[in-house]
Amino acid sequence: MIRTIFLFFIIWPLLANARQVPAIIPQPQSMELHDGYFQIGEGLHIVAADPLTFEARFLKEKIETAYGLEIPVLSKKKRAKPSIVLEISDVGLASGYQLHITDQGIRIKGQDATGVFHGVQSLVQMMASGPELPALTIIDYPRFGWRGMHLDCARHFFTVEEVKKYIDYLAMYKMNTFHWHLTEDQGWRIEIKQYPLLTEIGAWRDGSMIGHYRDQKFDSIRYGGFYTQEDIKSVVAYAAQRHINVVPEIEMPGHSVAALAAYPEFSCTGGPFEVEQRWGIFEDVYCAGNDATFEFLENIMDEVLALFPSEYIHIGGDECPKTRWKACEKCQNRIKAEGLADEHELQSYFIQRMEKYLNSRGRKIIGWDEILEGGLAPNAAVMSWRGIKGGIAAAKEGHYVVMSPGNPCYFDHYQHENKDMEPVAIGGFNPLGKVYAYEPVPEELDATESQFVMGAQGNVWTEYMKTFSHVEYMALPRMAALSEGLWTEADLKDYDQFLDRLELHVIILDQMGANYCRHFLTDK
Ligand code: ACM
Ligand code: ZN
Repeated sequence: MIRTIFLFFIIWPLLANARQVPAIIPQPQSMELHDGYFQIGEGLHIVAADPLTFEARFLKEKIETAYGLEIPVLSKKKRAKPSIVLEISDVGLASGYQLHITDQGIRIKGQDATGVFHGVQSLVQMMASGPELPALTIIDYPRFGWRGMHLDCARHFFTVEEVKKYIDYLAMYKMNTFHWHLTEDQGWRIEIKQYPLLTEIGAWRDGSMIGHYRDQKFDSIRYGGFYTQEDIKSVVAYAAQRHINVVPEIEMPGHSVAALAAYPEFSCTGGPFEVEQRWGIFEDVYCAGNDATFEFLENIMDEVLALFPSEYIHIGGDECPKTRWKACEKCQNRIKAEGLADEHELQSYFIQRMEKYLNSRGRKIIGWDEILEGGLAPNAAVMSWRGIKGGIAAAKEGHYVVMSPGNPCYFDHYQHENKDMEPVAIGGFNPLGKVYAYEPVPEELDATESQFVMGAQGNVWTEYMKTFSHVEYMALPRMAALSEGLWTEADLKDYDQFLDRLELHVIILDQMGANYCRHFLTDK
């Protein structure tokens, strides 16, 4: 008896706590708890109408999976029956929502369908702790407009189903941008109908590096894969339903050996080339002196634009050695004809020419911070990866910026200081706490310049990730930590409290079958 009473006093606060403090990630901007609770159970129905059909179905499926309950979706509320009402209503901020839970029912009001979807995500996370939901009012909206995650599907290839699972994680954390890295030296992954050799030749390599780069060991297993245009449409539609924009990255002028293996005439030397088996940076790049190169890339872009409605198209621009351009007659002629100072200005010419083309088609370019060298294209946005300097410089020039500094936004880096506790990674050390602490707006920017910081993103480069399960290990829960810095106002962030929520939240990751990194459970 005494033991039972003792247990009651130990366990009750835990249970009460589980019921009282919903573990939502990212933390909502405002949450007020009330007395009482709502019980999910028989008789419940969802009330929603067009354009919230997807949101309603999404919620219905989550309730069915969690509780085995069949919940009808109706366009009108049934009198005297408990309901979850989804509606669009003026709550003040784009993508924002209000979630009201009383003992009578649940109501999610979104500024738009995106806001309703965000409210549904919060509700779904709350439901993981059990069918008794505390009465509360949440008022919530995102801090930044670019809440991104990147995935390199070129160094290693991930199936459409795996990419969709990755998008599910983004959606859960209210991320809104999926940066899909589709072309590299080691593989071209997007079907382009006008240039079939890009995937017939460029999507396949005759071997891959094994172990760390420094070991210089290779297997000789043919490796590759690509997404058909139908695959791409299906991923873009899947993301759009979840209010996520897909930004494709088509790399130029560097990181282009796979394309040049297929079409060597667009290089400076004429080749021949093989799709790269090594990781790294390679000297053979697109020839900037040959007009045919631009025609080739513009034709590719025409097909890319037809597949991706994104306002921004990522053109890469990073890590382009200038060795070949220095020795190429065509490139040197271009430098003379255009009055350019050097090969850096030639790179700038290259990017500006592509920018003009994409602008003429109603799109904008974004590129890695090397596109600042030799002069930034007039309307280009910059993705700052070599630290934050590039982002600061671009914002000061009045260009939009996405912050993605290697430290701490590269999720291909180690998560534990003891590397023996980790699978082989490229290097670096970006543990969960460092990612959580990241503030996207650099102190160097004043209030006006800060407006140019659209947000930030986490990058998952996959040289060392052969399987999707390994991608999950590197991305989770760092993606959760980053999401809070992108969604929640900085003064509401609290790492210890985040860890408490994360401990409850992993029930959902377990339900989703995610292979997340568990160091945070043991290394407090
Ligand atoms: C990069 O990591 N090369 C953008
Ligand atoms: Zn050239």
